[in-house]
Amino acid sequence: MGKFIPQLPEIFLRKYFEHGQTILDPFAGSGTTLVQANELGINSIGCDISAFNALLCKVKTDKYDIQIAKQEVQDILQKTKETIQPRVKQLSFFTKPTEVYTIPTHVTNEYLGNWYAPQAFSELMIYCNLIQSENYQYQNLLKIILTRAARSARLTTHFDLDFPKHPQKEPYWCYKHRRTCSPTQEALKFLKRYSTDTLRRIEDFMQIRTDASVSIYHQDSRKLNIDEIDGIITSPPYVGLIDYHEQHIYAYHLLDLEDKRIDEIGPAQNGSSKKAQKKYQEGISEVFRAVTKKLSSGSRIIVVAGDRHNLYDEIAQMSNLEIEDIVKRHVNRRTGRRATEFYESIFIWRKP
Ligand SMILES: C[S@@+](CC[C@H](N)C(=O)[O-])C[C@H]1O[C@@H](n2cnc3c(N)ncnc32)[C@H](O)[C@@H]1O
Repeated sequence: MGKFIPQLPEIFLRKYFEHGQTILDPFAGSGTTLVQANELGINSIGCDISAFNALLCKVKTDKYDIQIAKQEVQDILQKTKETIQPRVKQLSFFTKPTEVYTIPTHVTNEYLGNWYAPQAFSELMIYCNLIQSENYQYQNLLKIILTRAARSARLTTHFDLDFPKHPQKEPYWCYKHRRTCSPTQEALKFLKRYSTDTLRRIEDFMQIRTDASVSIYHQDSRKLNIDEIDGIITSPPYVGLIDYHEQHIYAYHLLDLEDKRIDEIGPAQNGSSKKAQKKYQEGISEVFRAVTKKLSSGSRIIVVAGDRHNLYDEIAQMSNLEIEDIVKRHVNRRTGRRATEFYESIFIWRKP
């Protein structure tokens, strides 16, 4: 939830923008707009308050020497395996971790100890230490492989990977597989899986990547200071639906990422009361007022939003933007155990 399908920005990029222009996504998320813009030769700027999302955008849009990337991904995996065996295999909840490997100095919290089985924890720590110590060229790429593996290696049920509330330490009845499943004990198989998968994805993108520029900022978009742009395509957070930092909390702990949750607009923890909706409208319109300063008159602002509370006409007004069109799109998808069906609106606004 929250990530839009690549066809959406693609359609609007093709319709309103052209090769050589520059667009902005002030709520860049996992970077879908930036990837699509680059494919079309359109320069892009992305901004996100979540350090994890900013890192993901960077890794997805960077330029790679594929041979070096492959070699580094294989090298760290090999070194991780060599370090694991034979020392870590017999780890139990009672082994003191420091007898087997060092824990990076920033990992001082209880989160990781609580959400990973001892073997999985040690495998992730070994990989994490190697990223720091081996002087790899593509450290960010390795960090993303580590966090993707860490997401899957948490002590969760198979059907609640998105928002697990408590660590699952015992076997459980699995709705997804219709049998009794056990929480995973290891991380290595996920490190292998995401090494292959992440490499394949960047290799695919390198085939179509253009030289259009991509710049990524990790900050509150209300304070974003940029040069001239030709338009905006974005999908803002929905009111009271997701806590974006919390969603990838394992990555913040593993990589010691900077936490700016205090500046998230419309977080789930604030709910969707009338008061929260008002605050949300103020936050979103403050972003649009700040970033449209650099737009020339007549430029388009395309906003994809699930506007269940009808907040966006007022947001357009508060942002001093004209409404050109509104397109409604029916969305039906399955995530985990929840089937979701709703309407999403695409607002086409113009700077007067
Ligand atoms: C709906 S998601 C964007 C999804 C994106 N279109 C994609 O396809 O991945 C909204 C994003 O807004 C970000 N966000 C929330 N408050 C923000 C703020 N004040 N400044 C910048 N980004 C913010 C969240 O971290 C989240 O990544």
